[in-house]
Amino acid sequence: MGQNTAESSVSLINSSTMSNTERTFIAVKPDGVQRGLVGEIIKRFEQRGFRLAALKMVVVSEDHCKQHYIDLKALPFYAGLCSFMHSGPVVAMIWEGLNVVKNGRLMLGETNPADSKPGSIRGDLCITLGRNIIHGSDSLESANKEIALWFKPEEIIEFKSCQQAFLYE
Ligand code: RTP
Ligand code: MG
Repeated sequence: MGQNTAESSVSLINSSTMSNTERTFIAVKPDGVQRGLVGEIIKRFEQRGFRLAALKMVVVSEDHCKQHYIDLKALPFYAGLCSFMHSGPVVAMIWEGLNVVKNGRLMLGETNPADSKPGSIRGDLCITLGRNIIHGSDSLESANKEIALWFKPEEIIEFKSCQQAFLYE
Protein backbone atom coordinates (compact mmCIF):
# COMPACT_ATOMS: atom_id res chain seq x y z
CA MET A 1 0.00 0.00 0.00
CA GLY A 2 2.88 2.30 0.92
CA GLN A 3 4.36 1.72 -2.49
CA ASN A 4 1.07 2.56 -4.27
CA THR A 5 0.77 5.81 -2.32
CA ALA A 6 4.31 6.73 -3.30
CA GLU A 7 3.58 5.92 -6.95
CA SER A 8 0.38 7.93 -7.03
CA SER A 9 2.00 10.98 -5.46
CA VAL A 10 4.78 10.82 -8.03
CA SER A 11 2.25 10.68 -10.85
CA LEU A 12 0.32 13.61 -9.33
CA ILE A 13 3.48 15.69 -9.29
CA ASN A 14 4.16 14.78 -12.90
CA SER A 15 0.65 15.57 -14.12
CA SER A 16 0.61 18.88 -12.25
CA THR A 17 3.96 19.85 -13.80
CA MET A 18 2.65 18.93 -17.27
CA SER A 19 -0.53 20.97 -16.99
CA ASN A 20 1.38 24.02 -15.71
CA THR A 21 3.08 24.25 -19.08
CA GLU A 22 -0.03 25.02 -21.15
CA ARG A 23 0.61 28.06 -23.34
CA THR A 24 -1.53 30.72 -24.94
CA PHE A 25 -0.87 33.47 -27.45
CA ILE A 26 -1.81 36.98 -26.33
CA ALA A 27 -1.37 40.11 -28.45
CA VAL A 28 -1.90 43.74 -27.52
CA LYS A 29 -3.42 45.12 -30.73
CA PRO A 30 -2.35 48.45 -32.31
CA ASP A 31 -5.07 50.35 -30.38
CA GLY A 32 -3.86 48.90 -27.05
CA VAL A 33 -0.25 49.82 -27.86
CA GLN A 34 -1.17 53.37 -28.94
CA ARG A 35 -3.29 53.84 -25.82
CA GLY A 36 -0.39 52.90 -23.53
CA LEU A 37 -2.04 49.76 -22.16
CA VAL A 38 0.83 47.29 -22.67
CA GLY A 39 2.06 47.58 -19.08
CA GLU A 40 -1.43 47.24 -17.59
CA ILE A 41 -2.11 44.09 -19.65
CA ILE A 42 1.24 42.49 -18.79
CA LYS A 43 0.65 43.37 -15.14
CA ARG A 44 -2.64 41.50 -15.06
CA PHE A 45 -1.13 38.29 -16.46
CA GLU A 46 1.92 38.55 -14.20
CA GLN A 47 -0.13 39.22 -11.09
CA ARG A 48 -2.43 36.30 -11.82
CA GLY A 49 0.67 34.11 -11.67
CA PHE A 50 1.12 33.18 -15.30
CA ARG A 51 4.68 32.96 -16.63
CA LEU A 52 5.85 35.05 -19.56
CA ALA A 53 7.52 32.72 -22.08
CA ALA A 54 8.04 35.13 -25.02
CA LEU A 55 7.46 38.78 -25.89
CA LYS A 56 8.17 41.09 -28.83
CA MET A 57 6.84 44.27 -30.45
CA VAL A 58 6.27 43.90 -34.19
CA VAL A 59 4.51 45.43 -37.15
CA VAL A 60 3.39 42.37 -39.05
CA SER A 61 2.40 42.14 -42.73
CA GLU A 62 -1.22 42.15 -43.79
CA ASP A 63 -0.73 38.58 -45.06
CA HIS A 64 0.43 37.56 -41.59
CA CYS A 65 -2.73 39.11 -40.07
CA LYS A 66 -4.87 37.36 -42.69
CA GLN A 67 -3.27 34.06 -41.71
CA HIS A 68 -3.77 34.82 -38.01
CA TYR A 69 -7.51 35.47 -38.50
CA ILE A 70 -7.96 32.87 -41.31
CA ASP A 71 -10.98 31.25 -39.56
CA LEU A 72 -12.87 34.54 -40.01
CA LYS A 73 -12.11 34.97 -43.71
CA ALA A 74 -15.72 34.63 -44.85
CA LEU A 75 -16.93 37.39 -42.52
CA PRO A 76 -17.58 40.95 -43.72
CA PHE A 77 -15.23 42.57 -41.17
CA TYR A 78 -12.24 40.32 -42.05
CA ALA A 79 -10.49 42.75 -44.42
CA GLY A 80 -10.88 45.73 -42.05
CA LEU A 81 -9.74 43.67 -39.06
CA CYS A 82 -6.60 42.44 -40.86
CA SER A 83 -5.82 45.91 -42.17
CA PHE A 84 -6.13 47.37 -38.63
CA MET A 85 -3.90 44.65 -37.10
CA HIS A 86 -1.26 45.56 -39.68
CA SER A 87 -1.63 49.36 -39.14
CA GLY A 88 0.84 49.70 -36.25
CA PRO A 89 2.90 47.90 -33.66
CA VAL A 90 1.48 44.90 -31.85
CA VAL A 91 2.95 43.41 -28.66
CA ALA A 92 2.96 39.63 -29.10
CA MET A 93 3.35 37.39 -26.08
CA ILE A 94 3.21 33.79 -24.94
CA TRP A 95 1.92 33.18 -21.43
CA GLU A 96 2.20 29.84 -19.66
CA GLY A 97 0.36 28.22 -16.75
CA LEU A 98 -2.48 25.99 -15.62
CA ASN A 99 -5.52 26.38 -17.91
CA VAL A 100 -4.01 29.59 -19.28
CA VAL A 101 -5.97 29.38 -22.56
CA LYS A 102 -9.37 29.37 -20.85
CA ASN A 103 -8.38 31.68 -18.02
CA GLY A 104 -6.71 34.09 -20.44
CA ARG A 105 -10.01 34.38 -22.35
CA LEU A 106 -11.88 34.98 -19.09
CA MET A 107 -9.38 37.71 -18.19
CA LEU A 108 -9.94 39.34 -21.62
CA GLY A 109 -13.75 39.42 -21.31
CA GLU A 110 -16.22 39.15 -24.18
CA THR A 111 -15.34 39.98 -27.80
CA ASN A 112 -17.56 43.08 -27.56
CA PRO A 113 -16.35 45.30 -24.69
CA ALA A 114 -19.98 46.37 -24.19
CA ASP A 115 -20.76 42.80 -23.04
CA SER A 116 -17.59 42.44 -20.94
CA LYS A 117 -17.84 42.49 -17.18
CA PRO A 118 -16.01 45.16 -15.16
CA GLY A 119 -12.83 43.53 -13.88
CA SER A 120 -12.02 42.02 -17.27
CA ILE A 121 -9.44 43.68 -19.54
CA ARG A 122 -11.98 44.63 -22.22
CA GLY A 123 -14.61 45.48 -19.58
CA ASP A 124 -12.23 47.92 -17.89
CA LEU A 125 -10.14 49.38 -20.69
CA CYS A 126 -12.06 49.74 -23.97
CA ILE A 127 -15.47 50.49 -25.44
CA THR A 128 -16.04 49.21 -28.99
CA LEU A 129 -15.87 45.87 -30.83
CA GLY A 130 -13.42 46.98 -33.52
CA ARG A 131 -11.06 48.57 -30.96
CA ASN A 132 -11.03 45.88 -28.28
CA ILE A 133 -7.25 46.21 -27.65
CA ILE A 134 -6.26 42.57 -27.11
CA HIS A 135 -6.29 39.17 -28.75
CA GLY A 136 -6.24 35.85 -26.91
CA SER A 137 -6.24 32.28 -28.30
CA ASP A 138 -9.68 30.67 -28.05
CA SER A 139 -8.55 27.01 -27.72
CA LEU A 140 -5.41 24.97 -27.17
CA GLU A 141 -5.40 24.10 -30.87
CA SER A 142 -5.57 27.80 -31.88
CA ALA A 143 -2.90 28.64 -29.30
CA ASN A 144 -0.49 26.11 -30.80
CA LYS A 145 -1.15 27.38 -34.34
CA GLU A 146 -0.81 31.04 -33.33
CA ILE A 147 2.39 30.46 -31.33
CA ALA A 148 3.91 28.75 -34.38
CA LEU A 149 2.80 31.62 -36.65
CA TRP A 150 4.13 34.45 -34.44
CA PHE A 151 7.25 32.99 -32.80
CA LYS A 152 10.33 31.05 -33.83
CA PRO A 153 11.17 28.23 -31.40
CA GLU A 154 14.33 30.06 -30.28
CA GLU A 155 12.27 33.10 -29.24
CA ILE A 156 10.42 31.03 -26.62
CA ILE A 157 12.28 31.05 -23.32
CA GLU A 158 12.16 28.04 -21.00
CA PHE A 159 12.85 28.80 -17.36
CA LYS A 160 11.38 27.70 -14.06
CA SER A 161 9.72 30.59 -12.29
CA CYS A 162 10.81 31.02 -8.66
CA GLN A 163 7.09 31.44 -7.85
CA GLN A 164 6.22 27.92 -9.01
CA ALA A 165 6.05 26.27 -5.57
CA PHE A 166 3.89 29.10 -4.22
CA LEU A 167 1.43 29.10 -7.12
CA TYR A 168 0.89 25.37 -7.47
CA GLU A 169 0.47 22.70 -4.78
P1 RTP B 1 -9.65 37.99 -30.88
O1 RTP B 1 -9.52 36.80 -31.83
O2 RTP B 1 -9.11 39.25 -31.48
O3 RTP B 1 -9.07 37.63 -29.53
O4 RTP B 1 -11.18 38.26 -30.61
P2 RTP B 1 -12.32 37.21 -30.24
O5 RTP B 1 -11.76 35.81 -30.29
O6 RTP B 1 -12.92 37.65 -28.96
O7 RTP B 1 -13.36 37.40 -31.40
P3 RTP B 1 -13.29 36.86 -32.91
O8 RTP B 1 -14.65 36.33 -33.24
O9 RTP B 1 -12.12 35.97 -33.09
O10 RTP B 1 -13.10 38.19 -33.73
C1 RTP B 1 -11.82 38.76 -33.97
C2 RTP B 1 -11.90 40.25 -33.87
O11 RTP B 1 -12.70 40.74 -34.93
C3 RTP B 1 -13.38 41.92 -34.50
N1 RTP B 1 -14.80 41.71 -34.75
N2 RTP B 1 -15.54 42.57 -35.41
N3 RTP B 1 -17.71 43.84 -36.72
C4 RTP B 1 -17.91 42.69 -36.11
O12 RTP B 1 -19.00 42.14 -36.07
C5 RTP B 1 -16.78 42.06 -35.45
N4 RTP B 1 -16.82 40.90 -34.82
C6 RTP B 1 -15.55 40.68 -34.38
C7 RTP B 1 -13.10 42.11 -33.04
O13 RTP B 1 -12.05 43.08 -32.92
C8 RTP B 1 -12.60 40.75 -32.59
O14 RTP B 1 -11.72 40.85 -31.50
MG1 MG C 1 -10.66 35.10 -31.91
